[in-house]
Amino acid sequence: MKHNLITKKFLSMAALLSASTGAFAQSAEAPTYYGEALDALSRNCAECHRPEGPNLGGVQAPFSVLNFDEAKIWAPLISLRLEDGSMPPWGAHQQHQGTFKNERYISDEDKQLLISWVEAGALEGDAKDQPTADELALSAPANEPTLAFVF
Ligand code: HEC
Repeated sequence: MKHNLITKKFLSMAALLSASTGAFAQSAEAPTYYGEALDALSRNCAECHRPEGPNLGGVQAPFSVLNFDEAKIWAPLISLRLEDGSMPPWGAHQQHQGTFKNERYISDEDKQLLISWVEAGALEGDAKDQPTADELALSAPANEPTLAFVF
């Protein structure tokens, strides 16, 4: 009986230990700018957040996501705006996804990845890992609108 209790204790300790090594393994794999974030930022944000980004009715996106130093400075606001859904700007409800050309929904995966990148400290990673210009699926520069309503 006593033996049994000790075994149980040992097992729960082992479970605790392996849980904590699990957490360690996770933090060792924190996403980095060059490893993962740059790709998601370029696909979802660089259309506007780039050097000399488009003039959107007198407003310009305030920083370039293609530059690590700038992205790092803005990291807390990047996750805030992703969480509150105001960036990338897209007014249509999720239920209309697929209706419009050039719509700007961000996938849950990209959103989670970027928030995790910020939460892990907006790490730079190794510039050797960065996607090449060709691999960077830069979101197309804002196109000429097919239809404009002017009031
Ligand atoms: C269609 C263009 C466009 C895209 C795409 C876009 N942004 Fe923006 N963003 C803007 C503009 C314009 C502003 C400045 C808004 C203003 O001054 O009111 C802005 C402002 C911001 C700000 C500053 C907000 C603040 O609170 O001061 C953050 C952070 C931001 N964007 C993050 C992002 C992220 C992250 C993405 C991609 C997931 C993204 N944006 C995609 C146009 C864009």
